[in-house]
Amino acid sequence: MVEEYLHRIRHKGLRDRVVSADQAASLIKDGMVLGMSGFTRSGEAKAVPLALAERARREPLKVTLMTGASLGNDLDKILNDAHVTSRRMPFMSDPSLRRSINAGEVMYIDQHLSETVEQLRTGQLPGVDIAIVEAAAITETGGIVPTTSVGNSASFAILADKVIVEINLNQSEQLEGLHDIYIPTYWPVRTPIPVVTPESRAGFPYIPIPPEKIAAIVLSNKLDSSSTVTEPDDGTRAIAGNLTEFLKNEVARGRMPASLHPLQAGIGSIANAVMHGFIDSPFHDLTMYSEVLQDSTFDLMDAGKMVFASGSSITLSEPKYAEVMGRFQDYKRKLVLRPQEISNHPEVVRRLGIIAINTALEFDIYGNVNSTHVMGTNMMNGIGGSGDFARNAYLSVFVTKSIAKDGRISSVVPMVSHVDHTEHDVDILVTEQGLADLRGLAPRERAQLIIRNCVAPEWRDGLQDYFDRAVARGGHTPHLLEEALSWHDRLRRTGTMKPE
Ligand code: COA
Repeated sequence: MVEEYLHRIRHKGLRDRVVSADQAASLIKDGMVLGMSGFTRSGEAKAVPLALAERARREPLKVTLMTGASLGNDLDKILNDAHVTSRRMPFMSDPSLRRSINAGEVMYIDQHLSETVEQLRTGQLPGVDIAIVEAAAITETGGIVPTTSVGNSASFAILADKVIVEINLNQSEQLEGLHDIYIPTYWPVRTPIPVVTPESRAGFPYIPIPPEKIAAIVLSNKLDSSSTVTEPDDGTRAIAGNLTEFLKNEVARGRMPASLHPLQAGIGSIANAVMHGFIDSPFHDLTMYSEVLQDSTFDLMDAGKMVFASGSSITLSEPKYAEVMGRFQDYKRKLVLRPQEISNHPEVVRRLGIIAINTALEFDIYGNVNSTHVMGTNMMNGIGGSGDFARNAYLSVFVTKSIAKDGRISSVVPMVSHVDHTEHDVDILVTEQGLADLRGLAPRERAQLIIRNCVAPEWRDGLQDYFDRAVARGGHTPHLLEEALSWHDRLRRTGTMKPE
């Protein structure tokens, strides 16, 4: 056992800090703020949170939990079921935690993913007491080499009073060299972030912290959970086809090269399917500047379509994980993982001219998008990085199927029940029905195009009728306020948006 891990702790003075997960968890006190690694179910600390949940069965223990984004290995569920999580930010996607959030039992701060550490650094949020970070190794200088995600780990470790490092013996040592840890300079004079292409490297391949901050080292061996993304279906394939046709046209008009602009794709099945769709497209030499690198990134590389991908995490299905790790040295020169404040940074997103492709739960006839709140009330996951990208992108695209829940819901509605992305942040809307290019259009023109191109046939007349009657009443953005949310109200009362 000793042989197995000593070479992963290259700073000799730290080798005597190896303790059990229970011992490390005993450093955590009731009421503390924890900053934990983990982004879209990858690279999360795995052993210490389990020990923490176990401890909470014996004594009162509640913490504020900050991460990069969602956690794998059911950790959000386990911590929530043990009533450890009292406050959670900036993103989650676990059904059990979602229930507690929607019951008002857990205070959830759903935040743009680029913002959390900025607010921590400037004291706008309560400071992190303990950072818990999964690592592949610790360098000679005490630097932490992250695993499959960077997320907020770097700033958590830099800002925390103490750091617990979980060395995961099953995470490949080949991960070293994948990461680029750059932290923005401090105000009042912040220098430009030196990322000018997706390939740019600006920082260290490890998280630089003074070694004395490492209070405990824990050994773990659980792998990341595999991604839950489902295979493309007819609907998502049609969405991908519509977007590909549109982009082909943009290239033909000379608005972008055949390598497009760097791509960002959101989480979930639809975004993954859209990226898969590029395999059969004429585009080539594609790059990504995104948050999460899913199976589709590696499929595009294998198909010779993608030359480089920058992200903040790698989240893969089980077979893809084995395949990618088996050939990691080949992939590594085409990859970089960055802190999420850099992968999502407005300055860099605008500089690179990103094509941002994110998913809507619903959008309205004027192009406002709801990505987070079912019926304007219940949290689904969170805004994640979609807002960081949408507002600053060269082209901001939102995709969704035109109907949900077996056709009981139209995803295009008179007025969204919650707004995450305003009409000003949305350029292109795509459903399996078609695409609406909203650029340069006034609200009345947008509404007509959205109703014609994006709405399922059975809902089209209803929306046209709403729009016509609203126009008769007048206004720049015509609405019938007494009816604007009536489709949602009908769904609440009858289980469908269909007229009674
Ligand atoms: N009203 C109610 N429910 C709806 C709905 C609507 N208009 N549209 C979709 N849904 C439901 C689906 O039925 C499905 O429910 P289920 O889990 O019970 O099956 C669920 O929402 C997810 O929808 P799905 O069609 O499977 O899409 P997805 O997996 O691609 O997820 C989002 C879509 C919007 C939930 C997801 O992309 C998300 O959380 N986005 C916000 C964060 C983000 O964009 N991050 C990107 C930066 S990385």
